[in-house]
Amino acid sequence: MDKMWAGRFQEKLNELADDFNTSLPFDCRMYKQDIEGSMAHARMLASKGIISVEDSKLITEGLGEILDDIVSGKLNFNTDAEDIHMFIESELTRRIGDAGKRLHTARSRNDQVALDIRMYLRDENKEILTLIRKLIETLRDKAQDNTDAIMPGYTHLQRAQPVTFAHHILAYAMMFKRDYERIDDALKRMNSCPIGSCALAGTTYDTDRYMEAELLGFDSVMLNSMDGVSDRDFCLELLSAYSILMMHLSRFSEEVVLWSSWEFKFIELSDSFSTGSSIMPQKKNPDMAELIRGKCGRVYGDLVALLTTLKGLPLAYNKDMQEDKEAIFDAVDTVKMCLSVFEPMLMTATVLKDNMLKAAQKGFINATDMADYLVKKGMPFRTAYKLTGETVAYCIENKTVLEDLPFEKYKELSPLFEEDIYNEISLKTCVEKRISVGSTGPESVKMQIEYITEFLDD
Ligand code: ARG
Repeated sequence: MDKMWAGRFQEKLNELADDFNTSLPFDCRMYKQDIEGSMAHARMLASKGIISVEDSKLITEGLGEILDDIVSGKLNFNTDAEDIHMFIESELTRRIGDAGKRLHTARSRNDQVALDIRMYLRDENKEILTLIRKLIETLRDKAQDNTDAIMPGYTHLQRAQPVTFAHHILAYAMMFKRDYERIDDALKRMNSCPIGSCALAGTTYDTDRYMEAELLGFDSVMLNSMDGVSDRDFCLELLSAYSILMMHLSRFSEEVVLWSSWEFKFIELSDSFSTGSSIMPQKKNPDMAELIRGKCGRVYGDLVALLTTLKGLPLAYNKDMQEDKEAIFDAVDTVKMCLSVFEPMLMTATVLKDNMLKAAQKGFINATDMADYLVKKGMPFRTAYKLTGETVAYCIENKTVLEDLPFEKYKELSPLFEEDIYNEISLKTCVEKRISVGSTGPESVKMQIEYITEFLDD
């Protein structure tokens, strides 16, 4: 088939160059948005008298049939069309003749592509937001079931202070809530319609860009035609938000990998989200978590690839920009897949509360509480801190723990110690006495669960 621009050229496009140039194999996934955009364009053109109402009707019907045929599999993308925009237009013209040739009045592929990606991402991100919500809901439910599960909280991956498992996973719920809001915010900003920018400079036709924007569910029109066709900020914003989201998923995955190891055994992943080894019969591997951790790198790569593609481009459209789609599509697919797998993997995992508690009992994680006990009895914090450090050293040397030191020893260390020290440094008390806002104490955890629930109910 001749190219649309054949009139200007004497020679045919080299076959290799043709293959190299085409984006149809990957932009064909925007067929629905392209057709929707064209339907709105035809309606607008007819309403402004730029094409006839009959032509607009023919176009709309023709596009509807093309859509049905693609969905049913009757029409496939095995053609030499350069991209999805040309594919739809030439198929339409093949079916309805001259009316099809009128569709491309007062628009260009440059604005079409900018429009289609926006609409595509709008649709896909609705799903992504739903998946994030579902994950937050699962975290909230797991937290609710585990407000009494005491585990070691870590810094430097060294046991630091006791926390509850509820508190630990609510930290992730907070992160995912921000991820949700970041994407939601980017979606609001990108909901401005570029169609009608017309290659770069606008058009001499008396178009109604506001009507077209409204038909397509946009809040506004892009007010500078060169910006309209050149802007890919929205892809970068989403890729940045996805990168942060993937980083959170990756950190969480790392903890899942650690927690399901024999060394920790804080959780047991369900068989349905674990894999075995081809040689070691005893193995149960957390492949899903590892893969999600690994795929985080892919999404960072997509962000850096597009940032780099765009950094040297003069205004307005340049063919380099065709590279935007594979980056953003890959990131969308990856994020959706990772969220879809992570949530049920977590939901079906068993929390091994006893093991968590045992781990919490061994690491002197109540030492801060012992120091605070002395402070409350009048000792300056630094003195209490030093004395507690010496006590820990004594315990390590004598292979014991703070809870098991005899009372006489406590009295010898400081006359401020009373019998209530044992209760004060019990892990349960350590957690329950934490009263500051945001702490691991029961009141704070309850408040966090309510906060997340309010978000979910919104
Ligand atoms: N396939 C192109 C892309 O993905 C569409 C826009 C092409 N415009 C052009 N003037 N060659 O970016």
